[in-house]
Order: sequence, then structure tokens, then C-alpha cells
Amino acid sequence: MELLDLMRKRQSCRDFSDRPVRKEELFQCVEAARIAPSGQNHQPWKFVIVHRKDLCRQVAKIAQQYGEFNRFCEPCPAFVVVQKRYLPGDRDIELDLGLCVMQLCLEAEALGLSTCMIGSFGAEQLSDLLELSPQEPPRLLVAVGYAADETHREKTRLPYEEVVTYLGEES
Ligand SMILES: Cc1cc2nc3c(=O)[nH]c(=O)nc-3n(C[C@H](O)[C@H](O)[C@H](O)COP(=O)(O)O)c2cc1C
Repeated sequence: MELLDLMRKRQSCRDFSDRPVRKEELFQCVEAARIAPSGQNHQPWKFVIVHRKDLCRQVAKIAQQYGEFNRFCEPCPAFVVVQKRYLPGDRDIELDLGLCVMQLCLEAEALGLSTCMIGSFGAEQLSDLLELSPQEPPRLLVAVGYAADETHREKTRLPYEEVVTYLGEES
């Protein structure tokens, strides 16, 4: 599949089935994230693959800390927790984290899996549960699994003209 088609196909899944995901596929998704580019190659990330059923259930609860809108991840068979890796100094690493997470989600899509990035969760609770260092807090959760409903939604995006400026020769 062309990369652009894969990107068009990827969508946030909010209807996961409980079909299990293979450990090797999760490692492959995280490998895609691990090789992402980052400013000065700082690689300001760490990944925790949560695959144990009891832990997944607890992570799904923590994802609902600020409301029920993340309830859809309750049957989800796996999560990848993306942590900020400790780096001395005050670096802006948000862009880097975004890049690695996108690579993870696209690799998952290529494997026939579905994902949802989850930014709204109880970071402290998740740190406690996974015994993460306070210096390396979780920044994003990615729910990974199989979609119960694979219907493709139209992308709701701003129109091209509103967000793209072309400065070149008119054809
Ligand atoms: C940083 C970030 C945080 C997000 N947090 C949540 C979340 O907590 N819950 C959720 O359902 N979706 C979350 N999303 C998914 C977005 O809502 C979704 O990507 C956006 O609406 C575009 O839809 P699409 O992913 O289906 O193309 C998050 C996405 C990003 C990039």
C-alpha cells in the first residue's frame, strides 16, 4: 500500500475488540517508534509495552481519569506507554515524541492493527502502576488492538486552501 493511502486509512479507533495482539507485532510497532528522527538525535523517549491482561485493565481505568470518553479502551489488549526519557537541561521534546508516536501508529496500521493515541490520562497513577521514575513521566498512551468495527470515517480536516500556501510557478 502507498504510504499516503496508509496514512488516509489510519484513524483513531474507539471500538476495540478483545482479540489478542501478538507480542512480536507490538515489538515491531515499537521498533518503528524507536528509529524515529529527533532533534540532535536526542531520542527523548522510552516505551513500556503493557500486554498483561490485568495491567491493561488498570491502564484502561487510568485512561478514564478525566472522564468517560476514553472508556472505549477497556477491551483493548495492549497499550504502549510513551515516556519522556530523562535528559539534562530543559529541552523541548514534544515534537520528537509526536514523531515517534506517529511512526508507531503507522506501523500498527501496516500490520492491520488499529490504534488510538491517548493524551488524557492520570499520569501520576500510571507512573505509580508501572513504577516509572518521576524524572521520566508518561507523556502519551497508545491503545493498540483490532478494531471491532473497521468502517472508515471521512477525515474531518481543515480545507487545503486554509492551511497550505504554495509559492511557486503557476502551471
Ligand atoms: C496528542 C494527542 C492526544 C490525544 N488524546 C486523545 C484522547 O485522550 N482520547 C481520544 O479518544 N483521542 C485522543 N486523540 C485522538 C484525536 O482525537 C484524533 O487523532 C483526532 O481527532 C483526529 O482523528 P483521527 O486520528 O481519527 O484521524 C489524541 C490525539 C493526539 C495526537
